[in-house]
Amino acid sequence: MATTTPLRGTNTSARGLVRPTFKQPRKRLPYPLGLYQTAVGKKWVMGVTGIMIMGFVLVHMIGNLHMYEGPERFNEYGEALRDLGGHLIPRTYALWGMRFGLIAAFALHIHSAATLTIMNRQSRPYNYQSARSYSAANFASRSMRATGIIILLYIVFHLADLTWGWILGDDYIRGDVYNNVTRSLSNVPVAIIYIVANIAVAVHLYHGAWSMFQSLGWNNPKFNQARRAFASTIAGVILIGNLSFPIMNLAGVVSQDNREHPCHVHNGQETDICLGENN
Ligand code: HEM
Repeated sequence: MATTTPLRGTNTSARGLVRPTFKQPRKRLPYPLGLYQTAVGKKWVMGVTGIMIMGFVLVHMIGNLHMYEGPERFNEYGEALRDLGGHLIPRTYALWGMRFGLIAAFALHIHSAATLTIMNRQSRPYNYQSARSYSAANFASRSMRATGIIILLYIVFHLADLTWGWILGDDYIRGDVYNNVTRSLSNVPVAIIYIVANIAVAVHLYHGAWSMFQSLGWNNPKFNQARRAFASTIAGVILIGNLSFPIMNLAGVVSQDNREHPCHVHNGQETDICLGENN
């Protein structure tokens, strides 16, 4: 049976009088911060930063496919990222620019999602009548929060593993990306973490890609089928690509056997240029 629940934002005193407990509205900040205080502004920020992150994850997955070309090509790809911008700007500056952009996108994405959730809770006048209606109404947003937290933890683990080398210890060779990836992903517990986390990434991306259009106001039901096709394609491609890396490493298709030396090898001749400089 449905139970009567008090109105949110009210408090019933001992004598039965209902007293409002709403907080004073916050001072409106100047544009564009003022826009960000509204639900519409937050949804836009969440949508735009979501597109940026999705673009990064797709390009990152495509770049990682170089590991199937062998150690030399994969490490060259890592070097090319550090050399982006050519001789126009100092080495690694373009990469650092992209890293800062990505950090800002992640921070804004998480902040807008968290504050939007709080705003939605505060603006809902009644508490849910039953656990069932709660779960039905919130399945998508709860799965976004759960997968979002898994992704956040995964990114910290991933950076500790492949960027800072905290997990591989002495086996980590700065700049020798092939060595680090193969040593890390051929370890069963680490590969399982990558598999679970990348499934969470795909689920999050699927819901995100689907609801992104709604957040940006492009929600004509005429395009629902196209939206669903777009969301499943992007999430599916990223899922297959990213799961292939730990699986192929575990299977030994990508392994240390494919490598000859951590230094550049050109035309079968080892050069004296070793990777790992100027990181
Ligand atoms: C199995 C899937 C993945 C593999 C094999 C992989 C591999 C790598 C490698 C080799 C690096 C370079 C480390 C370095 O040399 O500094 C890297 C960096 C990074 N990855 Fe991944 N990655 C995967 C999935 C992801 C996902 C799903 C995300 C985001 C949600 C992500 C976010 C990052 C970030 C933020 C960096 C640091 C980039 C930088 O420092 O420039 N990765 N990853």
